[in-house]
Amino acid sequence: MSVVLEPGKAGKLTGTTPWFTGDVAAERVPEKYRLDRAFVPKARYLDPEFLQLELDKLFTRTWLMACRLEELAGVGSYVEYEIGAHSILIVRESKDSVQAYFNACRHRGTRLAKDRGRVGSIICPFHGWRWNLDGSIRLVLDREEFVPRSDDDLGLVKVRTETWAGFVFINMDPNAVPLLEYLDPIPRIFEPFHYENMRIRWQKGIILPCNWKTALDGFLEAYHVAGTHPQLFRLDKSNDNLLSMKELENRVWSPTTTYERHAHYSSLGQKKSETTEDNATKDPLKRTTEGQIDPREAFALSVQYIFDDMGGLENERSWRAAEQLKTTDLPEGMTPGDLFMQLYQDLVISEGYAWQDISPQQWSEAGTAWNVFPNTILLPNQGSSFMYRARPNGSDPDSCLFEIFALDQVAIADYDKKHQHTPQIFEDYHDAALGQVFNQDMANAKEVTVGMHSPSFDGHRLSEAQEMTIYNHHRVADRFIWADRDA
Ligand code: FES
Ligand SMILES: [Fe+2]
Repeated sequence: MSVVLEPGKAGKLTGTTPWFTGDVAAERVPEKYRLDRAFVPKARYLDPEFLQLELDKLFTRTWLMACRLEELAGVGSYVEYEIGAHSILIVRESKDSVQAYFNACRHRGTRLAKDRGRVGSIICPFHGWRWNLDGSIRLVLDREEFVPRSDDDLGLVKVRTETWAGFVFINMDPNAVPLLEYLDPIPRIFEPFHYENMRIRWQKGIILPCNWKTALDGFLEAYHVAGTHPQLFRLDKSNDNLLSMKELENRVWSPTTTYERHAHYSSLGQKKSETTEDNATKDPLKRTTEGQIDPREAFALSVQYIFDDMGGLENERSWRAAEQLKTTDLPEGMTPGDLFMQLYQDLVISEGYAWQDISPQQWSEAGTAWNVFPNTILLPNQGSSFMYRARPNGSDPDSCLFEIFALDQVAIADYDKKHQHTPQIFEDYHDAALGQVFNQDMANAKEVTVGMHSPSFDGHRLSEAQEMTIYNHHRVADRFIWADRDA
């Protein structure tokens, strides 16, 4: 049920039809916004009018990842989530429940709470009306002076709130499909990664000078890796000179797979081995190296670089397992990757962490990075994950808030421990200490935007193999924006 485009050949959307099968008839979409085969017109990124359509019809009708449950640790904890003109308050209503409300006083509209914090009841800062955590009205000062109104009329207006794997999603559309149905097939495929046992280790938000989709697009494909992150193909990570033609032969091939709403890419190894069985599935045990040094060391360095430079997706336990790998004898018939996983497993179990059993088939299905439609990306890994989220910044289509979350599994004994982290926001990515890889990605955001504004440029020409994640986003967005139907 999930794959609508050429089932069985997902990710290879070839042929002249059916680009719009099950979606929106092309005629319904104004020409300047109309998708064509693997072509996305630039007006969908640059026009203020299109941003307004997204704010009115897309973000108001889709499930949006608003926060993690660990951010609402105690009863009365709240997080404010802003999107377009909407401010939404997500509140820990009781030990077992969270509920989101439109963050506007029923008296004269005042925003009730900002950022994050913890309260006993929700109190308007203007005239002091009060609400219980379940949104029911608790106090109207001098209520007898008002026209009699029902408690219902004075209660906070609820926003649909559902959770999955420690993520709290909200949806402003009362008629939306349930969250788990909307997320399909993500909950099934992500099950072995046990996100419910992860917590946010750090969260950095960056104001980027690009459209919110441009920020995400840069993480929805790995086709750019050879061009943008050349050091990843070298043992010497300080060498970020352009890859030579010879080095380019070792580039990684990362085909995309599209589903009814969501999409992912999988980095599968070298493209030149595309037809070999070796390349049939994503294999986390394979990493690109030059093959000139001890393969154990090469493997270990690539794990350690991800943690040292990016600060996530790996963790300090996998870093130490990699360190052990460098000097552990490689048993006959074992790859460095196999040995690494064994060392990593022994280490985490001995330190009180759960080990996730993830079969090769589950790794393969999970791929590398997922677009959780519309504005979140998840990269699953053993014990750690990155999550990215982007939102428009005001009414400027060329500005967004892009956030990076590093999630790590916590020790079994800490599952119920109160969690704390302080989100940071930076106006300039240079101040965010993001490391070499993210800085390279961040630099692209502005360059893409400047180039897209050139009158000579009309739209994205996407790879049908490696960039259909991007196309898929637009295809699905059309259903919300033009079809007025529940997607
Ligand atoms: S505006 Fe909130 S109590 Fe008056
Ligand atoms: Fe990148």
